[in-house]
Amino acid sequence: MRRIRAALLEDVGERFRVEELELDEPGPGEVRVRVVAAGVCHSDLHVVNGDLPVPLPAVLGHEGAGVVEAVGEGVTRVKPGDHVVLSWIPGCGRCYYCRIGRPELCEEAFRLQVAGTLPGGALRLRRPGGSAVHHFLEVSCFAEATVVPEQGVVPIRPDVPLDRAALVGCAVTTGYGAVVHTARVRPGSSVAVLGAGGVGLNVIQAAVLSGAWPVVAIDRIPAKLELAREFGATHTVDASRTDDLVGAVADLTDGRGTDYAFEVIGRPETIASAYGMARKGGTVVVVGVAAPHEEVSINAFSLPSQSKVLTGSWYGRSNPGVDIPRILDLYMAGRLKLDELVSRRFPLEGVNEAFDALRSGEVARSVLLLES
Ligand code: APR
Ligand code: ZN
Ligand code: ZN
Repeated sequence: MRRIRAALLEDVGERFRVEELELDEPGPGEVRVRVVAAGVCHSDLHVVNGDLPVPLPAVLGHEGAGVVEAVGEGVTRVKPGDHVVLSWIPGCGRCYYCRIGRPELCEEAFRLQVAGTLPGGALRLRRPGGSAVHHFLEVSCFAEATVVPEQGVVPIRPDVPLDRAALVGCAVTTGYGAVVHTARVRPGSSVAVLGAGGVGLNVIQAAVLSGAWPVVAIDRIPAKLELAREFGATHTVDASRTDDLVGAVADLTDGRGTDYAFEVIGRPETIASAYGMARKGGTVVVVGVAAPHEEVSINAFSLPSQSKVLTGSWYGRSNPGVDIPRILDLYMAGRLKLDELVSRRFPLEGVNEAFDALRSGEVARSVLLLES
């Protein structure tokens, strides 16, 4: 057993409390990771807001990187001292979706997300001598250390700074994969990206890497549009200045709309806008996660007559064991930006401040640094 400091969320709508918790030794097939850095993602905020129902109390955080401290029985993928990025969909390797090569849709991982436990119902976190605390997405990295399943750690090259590597656990892989795997953007095609936050900026830079032009970024915060340009967007639309986003994108593309439109916010009205932004026969990719009760209305006649492809993208349809090391190689080669994604760094005690910064929209990403 190890004592850790962790940010605990007791209930929906509350502030985080940094408390001392007990963390069990890793069981068979599990790994204990000393967390070095954890990104603050909008999906964590969805939990705080009650838009993503998961069992509480829990230690949140699902975008992290660190160093392996201990491994349980039978673990072969990593050893103590290895640098790892944590994956929030540890594909079980056995279910239908894992077997057809779609591990991001793993049924077991989804079941455990809802249960708030590790495989087999294991709970490795508790209050000192007391009640159990739930895991979040099998990661729970707003903590000095965490126990995760072996499939949830991706070993990485040790020369990548871990505060940058952490972001590849969610935002970068989600955005990059939406472009490279889900849409398969072709060179020379046009792209619109609605939402230039932590994930959207990665959609933008992956579209640029894929040879797209123009790459139109749309956001309601001007500072985000400046960042979008830094990440390679060729045009920007300020959503705070116009209600007609579809018209603004059409004006930039001979009245046609773009070959691809990505929604990276997670709201019904922006999903409808993204659908409108794609040209006839174009592809619309919904990356943003709306609350479970939300519905989107699409003109029924347009479905056959405009023949658009409307699809979703969960975790960038990625294979984390392949994509995460590849993204880090691209970063080290200067082909993808990670440094510019980290707007602010906070100690664990700054977790509430980091969430305030996310709510206000002032940051691309905040990173919690766990090393004391
Ligand atoms: N119009 C235009 N831009 C908007 C609007 C809107 N109505 N609402 C929000 N935005 C912009 C914000 O200004 C911000 O730049 O969308 C961006 C969202 O970025 P983040 O808050 O950083 O969220 P991020 O972590 O990128 O996640 C985006 O993807 O994976 C999902 O759950 C995640 O639904 C979330 C989405
Ligand atoms: Zn995330
Ligand atoms: Zn599976």
